Amino acid sequence: MKFKRRQVLAGLVGLGVVGLGGAGVRYWLGRPESVATHDYQLIAAPLDMELMPGRQTPAWAYGGQAPGVELRCRQGERLRVRFINQLDVQSTIHWHGIRLPLAMDGVPYVSQAPVLPGEYFDYDFICPDAGSFWYHPHTASAEQLGRGLVGPLIVEEREPSGFSHERTLCLKTWHIDEQGAFTEFLVPRQAAREGTRGRLSTINGAPNPTLELPEGQIVRLRLINVDNTITYRLNLPGAEARIYALDGNPVEPRPLGKDYWLGPGMRLDLALKVPAAGQELPLRNGPLRLATLRSVISTQAPGDWPPALPANPIAEPDLARAETLRFNFEWAAALSGDVERGGSYRYWQINGQAWDSADKGCAERPIATLKQGGHYVFVLRNMAQYQHPIHLHGMTFKVLGSDRRKIVPYFTDTYLLGKNETARIAFVADNPGIWMFHCHVVDHMETGLMAAIEVV
Ligand code: C2O
Ligand code: CU
Ligand code: CU
Repeated sequence: MKFKRRQVLAGLVGLGVVGLGGAGVRYWLGRPESVATHDYQLIAAPLDMELMPGRQTPAWAYGGQAPGVELRCRQGERLRVRFINQLDVQSTIHWHGIRLPLAMDGVPYVSQAPVLPGEYFDYDFICPDAGSFWYHPHTASAEQLGRGLVGPLIVEEREPSGFSHERTLCLKTWHIDEQGAFTEFLVPRQAAREGTRGRLSTINGAPNPTLELPEGQIVRLRLINVDNTITYRLNLPGAEARIYALDGNPVEPRPLGKDYWLGPGMRLDLALKVPAAGQELPLRNGPLRLATLRSVISTQAPGDWPPALPANPIAEPDLARAETLRFNFEWAAALSGDVERGGSYRYWQINGQAWDSADKGCAERPIATLKQGGHYVFVLRNMAQYQHPIHLHGMTFKVLGSDRRKIVPYFTDTYLLGKNETARIAFVADNPGIWMFHCHVVDHMETGLMAAIEVV
């Protein structure tokens, strides 16, 4: 069924939508007095999109757009989202990077029953960390994310961060042909390699858009890789840009440098000093232009670089008493006979075990059981020629080091593990539950590269 944007946003009536700082920076201020049960009503439904000029693409959308509507809340506050499923397939919403109770984690058969067509589910949790996060289903992910069910979730700092301008940029490369029709989201031969790539690169659903930014200002760009497969090699030649946060977690500000590799699921918060009016900067993936940033006249006094963002309240792992566990990410199958069982391919394994997305009981066989409150070091070893953005639900971890690159330790929920790389991460197992631990290249995850980590 199709719906109107008006209905989608009905849940926001009474929220008071106020534009702050001009130039289109929008904050959803306040909580509704009259809406007792939720802050947002988020409908997933089919939506015909014009991605190719003059052609229709039968996308699936959250809130009448793909990528979906931007949800916002403030750090430490409760976010309540009524998810209404108007698709004709079952779904759920997972809140990527948010440290929340298991019942709100959105993994069907692990944390909740799937939300059936026509049904709804109320998500209700506190957002303990500020930063750029996102949301997506956790079932039939290749198709559901592929068709457009991805959206940004922005958690604002408790106190103003010093940025008076910001933009959210969701990066997605659509699996469509020249007619706008979807191509296969998961091609087995590709799933067994780097993953199935789409062919139309977009930002916020538009191929190569021009974004107007106010001259002389410092603008926070929240780049979110919502793509199934692609690691974007982001660069902004000629720009003065600094990294302020990685994957929702602040870092000591530093120059962007040449190429930042943003794997599926990962986020990069940049501060950009907008040049003089009339100038243009290309935002690129390697040599390919993704967007044009155009400076326009502004009457505001030039901005200054804000201080580092305040750290999130994440427990510091104590390495002296941490227990070490090893995880090998292996390429499991030749492209021959035995890989297809019960409709699911198994090309990838963690410690010799492949996740079977057709087996609802998989989560009952966790790959590791951690003690609540315990300190852990995970050694992540990539035994393959393809890189894997390794993601953990429920807890944020600290990247300690790598045998391939110099690491300034930082907190994240996703680490891009390069070819044949071994990296060490650490965290405090402070959130009880059964947490998915997987590669965020969606077709790697769907062909085995996922496991459950239990914290009891
Ligand atoms: Cu983006 Cu299992 O998650
Ligand atoms: Cu996640
Ligand atoms: Cu992978």
